[in-house]
Amino acid sequence: KYPGLALTPPMGWNSWNTFACNINEKMIKEMADAMVSSGMRDAGYKYLVLDDCWLSPTRDSLQNLQADPKKFPDGMKALGDYIHSKGLKFGIYNCAGTKTCAGYPGTRGHEYQDALTYASWGVDYLKYDWCNTEGINAREAYTTMSKALAATHRPIVFSMCEWGTNQPWLWGAPIAELWRTTGDIGCGWYIKPNPNGWTPLGVTQIIDKEVNLRQYAGPGHWNDPDMLEVGNGMPVNEDRAHFSMWAMLAAPLIAGNDLRHMSEETREILTNRGVIAVDQDSLGIQALRYEVKDSVETWMKPLEGGDWAICFLNRAAEPKAIDFDWKANVVKDTLSNRELNANTQRYAIVDLWTNKAMGTTQKALKGTVPSHDVLMVYLSKQIKKEKHK
Ligand code: DGJ
Repeated sequence: KYPGLALTPPMGWNSWNTFACNINEKMIKEMADAMVSSGMRDAGYKYLVLDDCWLSPTRDSLQNLQADPKKFPDGMKALGDYIHSKGLKFGIYNCAGTKTCAGYPGTRGHEYQDALTYASWGVDYLKYDWCNTEGINAREAYTTMSKALAATHRPIVFSMCEWGTNQPWLWGAPIAELWRTTGDIGCGWYIKPNPNGWTPLGVTQIIDKEVNLRQYAGPGHWNDPDMLEVGNGMPVNEDRAHFSMWAMLAAPLIAGNDLRHMSEETREILTNRGVIAVDQDSLGIQALRYEVKDSVETWMKPLEGGDWAICFLNRAAEPKAIDFDWKANVVKDTLSNRELNANTQRYAIVDLWTNKAMGTTQKALKGTVPSHDVLMVYLSKQIKKEKHK
C-alpha cells in the first residue's frame, strides 16, 4: 500500500448515517462549507466521504464509472476540486462485489480501471464495501483493490468494509489503513436484535466487540468500529460516552450527522480538543479494558511520552460512584510495554470534559458517573522539582 498514510486514525465526515441514498452535489458542497465554518476541519476532520448512491446506474460505453448526472451534474472531478479548495480531502465509496449494497455498479473485474478513475478525480480515500460478492475471497478481493490503488501512485487511504466477517484484523495491515470490525452502527446505546431481520448495533454492543482486538491496531492500520452517531438523536450523555470511547479505542472519527444544522452541544462534543488528542495520539495504542466492576468499565490508553487517558464508562441505568486508588492499581500493559504506577510516578489529573484539574494520583479519584456517561481524565506525568539548597 502507499506508505505513510493514516499514521493516526482518519478523521472526517461520511454521508451514510444521516443521508443514506439522499445525496447530491448541493448538499455535499454545503457540508464541505459546514466542515470549515463549524470548526470541524480545524479540529482535525479532513476527509469528506461520499458513501453509497453517488453512482449512475450504469457504467459508460468504455465501462468507466460515472456519477449520477442528476445528483451530481458537474461530475466528480469538479466536486473533488471544490472539496480540495476548502482544505479538505475527498473520499468516495464502492464495493468489491458486482453491485454496491444499494445496487449501483460495483468494482469487481474493474479494479485497476476504477482506481485510475478515482485518481483522475483527485480522490484521497476509498471506502470499499462487501455486498454482492458471490462467494469471492475477501483477502484476495481487498488485496487486488489495494494493489490497484497503489498502482495509481496517488496517496489514497483504503478503508475496508467487510464488517469483520473474515477477521480482517488478521490480514488487513499490509493492505489497508482501516477495516470495519463489526456490522453497521445504529443510533442507540443498546439496540435490541430483531430475530426476524437485520438490526444495527448500538454503541455498547460495538464496544464489546473491540475488547480483544487491540493488538491488531497501530499507526497506519486501524480497527474501525464504524462511524459516529453523535448528533443523530442519542441523549447528550450517550453521545459524550460514544465519542469518548471511540477516542479511547483509537478509532477513526468519521462524523455522520448533518453538520449544517448541529446543536452547540453536538459541536462541542465533536470538537473537544482534549478528547481528539487522545484519539490522535501518535503512539497509536488502543485502550485496554482494565476492569469491569458493578457496570462501570475502566479503560486505559497509554499515550506518547508516558501520559495516560483513563475513561470510566457507566453502562448502568443509574449513576455510579467511582473510588479509584491509583497506588493500589499498578497497571502493566504488555502490548505497549508501558506501566502506570502511582507509587513511583506522580501524575496530574484533568477532567477532559470539564477541563477541571482533579488533583494528582497521590490520592484516590472520587466522583460520580451519571448513567450512560463517562468520566474521562488525562493523566500527565509530573516531573519532580529539583531540590536546591
Ligand atoms: C454497508 C456499510 O457497512 C455501510 O456503512 C454503508 O456503506 C452501506 N453499506 C451503504 O450501502
